[in-house]
Amino acid sequence: MRYTFVFFIASCLSAVQGLSSRDLRSVDRAISSIVRPNAATLVRLAFHDCVGGCNGCLNVNNPDNAGLEDVVEALETAYVDNSISSLMSRADFWAYAGQAALKASVAVTDGVEESDLNISFQTGRVDCDSAPYTDDDVELPGPNMDYEELISFYAERFGMDEEQAVAIMGAHTLGGADTENSGYKGAWIAGAGANREFNNQYYTIMLDGDWAQRNQGDDSDPKWQWDARNVGFMLNSDMCLVKEMELNEDGRSGCTYDSCASSAGISYVQKFSDSQSDWLAKFSEAWTIMQSAGDYTLTDLE
Ligand code: HEM
Repeated sequence: MRYTFVFFIASCLSAVQGLSSRDLRSVDRAISSIVRPNAATLVRLAFHDCVGGCNGCLNVNNPDNAGLEDVVEALETAYVDNSISSLMSRADFWAYAGQAALKASVAVTDGVEESDLNISFQTGRVDCDSAPYTDDDVELPGPNMDYEELISFYAERFGMDEEQAVAIMGAHTLGGADTENSGYKGAWIAGAGANREFNNQYYTIMLDGDWAQRNQGDDSDPKWQWDARNVGFMLNSDMCLVKEMELNEDGRSGCTYDSCASSAGISYVQKFSDSQSDWLAKFSEAWTIMQSAGDYTLTDLE
């Protein structure tokens, strides 16, 4: 009887005091079958959710979110079936899944350790009223940005500095684009399985590749992207990290990869290409900032 009472008090205290690492084991179990096959998509979802403040809500009817609907549905089923709402909000759950996806990607990458990723999970994000769906549009960044626009976007939305902004773009090391979703096509890093690995290849190939611009769309819906055979693909919003492209309104570059002047981001790209650990340290900072966007207070785990 006495022990039951002590146990009861201890359980109440742990609920009051917040989420423990033990609680996270049940969250891990709930997402275990979702993370590996969807790692890149979960990382993209974590970003899209946080652009307007991380709130566990996505407008799946916004074409900029195309390709995220299935993973939102899978997470929602796991959230409901496993009563995760007693532990954390959906916004926390999505942030946790994004972080688990990064760890799973690191686990299949040679030369990178989990400890290289300096990210710890914090809790306290608050859902929007209609979570997990919303009709609201947060203005997502476009694929035809120049360097200045890109840096302003990350500064205004997240308060990131220039180097953090360049570092967060390295998430494009994972996954790819699909004509069915964005209209663009390809994996940023070409080669079997290469787009599942979380390393600094994004920066390395951007500096050294036989890059040419190609319209993956058509005249009525142009999708100008940069391709380098057997190396990878880049959006203009990626390539702006190293090149000033003189884009027209369709996104077509007025100069070639060789004739375009270097953009101001090239020194950071060079730094991250030279040092995987410098990139991972800066990426970790930027990811933590991104995952804290919104009107709430985050706390560490017990
Ligand atoms: C200027 C900023 C950005 C632009 C314009 C952009 C644009 C895009 C586009 C067009 C796609 C292809 C979607 C598809 O066709 O399926 C994509 C995929 C992706 N994005 Fe971004 N993105 C940006 C920043 C970010 C950031 C900050 C992250 C994460 C921190 C991120 C993570 C991803 C990932 C992992 C994918 C691959 C998804 C998959 O394979 O399912 N992106 N992005």
